[in-house]
Amino acid sequence: MTVAIEMGQTSAGAPAALDLEELLATRLLVQGNSGSGKSHLLRRLLEQSAPWVQQTIIDPEGDFVTLGDRFGHLVIDAEEHTERGLQSAGERARIHRVSTVLNLEGLDAENQMRRAAAFLGGLSRSPATTGTRCWWWWTRRSCSRRPSPARFRTRRASSRSAP
Ligand SMILES: Nc1ncnc2c1ncn2[C@@H]1O[C@H](COP(=O)(O)OP(=O)(O)OP(=O)(O)O)[C@@H](O)[C@H]1O
Ligand SMILES: [Mg+2]
Repeated sequence: MTVAIEMGQTSAGAPAALDLEELLATRLLVQGNSGSGKSHLLRRLLEQSAPWVQQTIIDPEGDFVTLGDRFGHLVIDAEEHTERGLQSAGERARIHRVSTVLNLEGLDAENQMRRAAAFLGGLSRSPATTGTRCWWWWTRRSCSRRPSPARFRTRRASSRSAP
């Protein structure tokens, strides 16, 4: 069965569809200037493919935590867990094939890397379900653009809105 993700329209006005099977069999890099629509594009891909594939989203900015409300992703706030705990969470996510959002918002760059590595290590270490297909998304801004503590509190309060 072909699953077509509608990305927009071609210059001729026809629907521009992306073949999910083809995407899973290959790789995708989304690159662009700040504000060019990377998060918007990824959000569309994630929303439309959520019913079909397990998704693992590494989310440095908390842009995708609302997927939990709409599509049932398990949102894990990395700030609230140890590396060991995140490794266990990764193992369980893999075993149970749960779609997850690892929210790294609020951590400095060093801790973002360490905790994401622990989680991904757990995901890939579990022997029980090797061979399952899984998407890993990593969106990243430069460290100089990380939110200030004040902005962080504001964003947390309103972080349930779409990016
Ligand atoms: N195809 C689109 N249709 C309508 N609005 C869009 C589209 N793509 C992006 N936008 C809007 O443009 C703004 C910037 O998009 P987005 O946040 O996705 O950019 P970005 O490339 O992720 O930026 P950054 O690098 O700063 O994270 C957002 O308000 C988004 O809603
Ligand atoms: Mg973005």
